[in-house]
Amino acid sequence: MKFLFSSLGKKIQVAFSGLLLCIFLMMHLINNLALFVGPEVFNKMVATLESIKPIIRVMEAGLLIILLMHIGNALQLTFKNRKASNSKSSNNQTSTLNSRTMAVSGTIVLLFFIIHLRYIWYTYQAHLFIDETETYYDVLLRNDWGYLGHTPTAVFYVLAIMFIAFHIKHGFQSALKTFGVLKQSRIGLLYGLSFIFWGFIPAMFIVIIISIQAGIIN
Ligand code: HEM
Repeated sequence: MKFLFSSLGKKIQVAFSGLLLCIFLMMHLINNLALFVGPEVFNKMVATLESIKPIIRVMEAGLLIILLMHIGNALQLTFKNRKASNSKSSNNQTSTLNSRTMAVSGTIVLLFFIIHLRYIWYTYQAHLFIDETETYYDVLLRNDWGYLGHTPTAVFYVLAIMFIAFHIKHGFQSALKTFGVLKQSRIGLLYGLSFIFWGFIPAMFIVIIISIQAGIIN
């Protein structure tokens, strides 16, 4: 138990929770790819999720705990690094710069989360439809602040997702360095595989947004 609260234990917690968040992101992308199939399929999928709400609520609570575990441990490590950097060793300065970069990109990711949940998630949860003909699909495509038919919001989303990609990339780099007990060739392979999370998945989210803006999803 004591190990979990040591620096290495905290790094393991950050890496583990980060990986779980990446898996959530993959499932979230798969759900949203239904937008390409058409409104009926997408609306049916969301309605199915609504019909198993208690299960979804448990999963959302789990997601929140994982997110708090990630942020809490990452912040503690950042503050510890900052303190250690006062000892002026160049190694520490590099790690402080890295953790600062992660803290800045992490904060932008958090801001994105708040905006995404405030508009899209909340509209779905509270069923704040404009009228009885509006569907879940139409909500996403609204040309209004916070929704993806609105160009400034779409631009914000694309930029935020690029930060998310950057954050995930550095997360994998740093985790693989920390757990560098593996053979160099294995690290290379794992880093290559991590491209799915920091390259492919964010790129596909951006493709969805561009498709909405270009009228391909309409
Ligand atoms: C094209 C981009 C995206 C679209 C169209 C999209 C769409 C949605 C929708 C429709 C919901 C509501 C689901 C429901 O309540 O049934 C939702 C919730 C959520 N989204 Fe996204 N999302 C996108 C990108 C992202 C990204 C990049 C992240 C994370 C970094 C993210 C994190 C979440 C979270 C945490 C929730 C609430 C949990 C849940 O109920 O599933 N989303 N999103």
